[in-house]
Amino acid sequence: MIDLEKDFSLILSKLYKMYGLDFSKYREGTIKRRLARRMAFTGAGSYRNYLDILEERPREYGRLLSDLTIKLSRFFRNQYVFEKLQNEIFPDLFRQKKEGGKNVLRIWCAGCAYGEETYSVAITLVEYLKRKKEKTGDYDITIFGTDIDEETLQKARIGVYDTGAVKEVKKGILDEYFLVCGSHYQVVDSIKALVSFTTHNLTSAKHICPPAGVVANYDLILCRNTLIYFATPLQGRVFSNFFRSLSRGGYLILGRSESIPKDLEESFILRNRKDRIFQKK
Ligand SMILES: C[S@@+](CC[C@H](N)C(=O)[O-])C[C@H]1O[C@@H](n2cnc3c(N)ncnc32)[C@H](O)[C@@H]1O
Repeated sequence: MIDLEKDFSLILSKLYKMYGLDFSKYREGTIKRRLARRMAFTGAGSYRNYLDILEERPREYGRLLSDLTIKLSRFFRNQYVFEKLQNEIFPDLFRQKKEGGKNVLRIWCAGCAYGEETYSVAITLVEYLKRKKEKTGDYDITIFGTDIDEETLQKARIGVYDTGAVKEVKKGILDEYFLVCGSHYQVVDSIKALVSFTTHNLTSAKHICPPAGVVANYDLILCRNTLIYFATPLQGRVFSNFFRSLSRGGYLILGRSESIPKDLEESFILRNRKDRIFQKK
């Protein structure tokens, strides 16, 4: 039993060395279940066996990382969040910009998987500006999608999706912002041009936000359905990074079953409990 746990910890520490990602601080049950799936796939009968496989085939590390991180996403997932963006958050942010005489808008989608959420935000922004009879070119806009898994980001940059990913997209939006390629949908270039995808580890102690070395000042951070897999101490670190990365009056949107740790609650105004929308004081 002790050896079993030792080998399990050894796998995690190898991942830590490889990616700087400390899975020992993720929920153990989730990690063990996902590791077991990968072990079954490779035919490893024990953690020790699996360690040997990692040694012999280093590419297995990437596959394990991919399996340990859940990628489930889709365009306009939880439509109500995008309605709130369009009707409340963007109007408030652009009002703040106008009052401060600024035209820079910075958005970060953390844990963006294949980019569905990041592109949905970009489309919502373009639609919002269109309603206001303004153009994206009138502003200096940055929209970052980041993820720990570079392979997902490569797909995000290509921007081609199957029908399942776009099932919540309204017909008019689908027609305007996607090209149909056989049974797939491709995001149009004008939306792709607004978005950059870059690797970023949310648990990194060195880089609190992308890109490294730049003053953050984000107006909006979305981190949905990513932190549920992190144990409490790790969540604490990520949230304090978000807090430091947001400008005053900036918004943080979490997934439906996620919330801000108690000790940071005071630093945010809860704008919408159900939709998990917070604003930095
Ligand atoms: C379930 S997806 C969420 C996608 C999207 N935000 C949504 O709600 O539809 C979670 C993503 O978080 C990423 N992730 C997990 N741990 C991470 C970490 N430490 N740093 C950055 N991304 C991470 C995973 O690779 C995965 O793509």
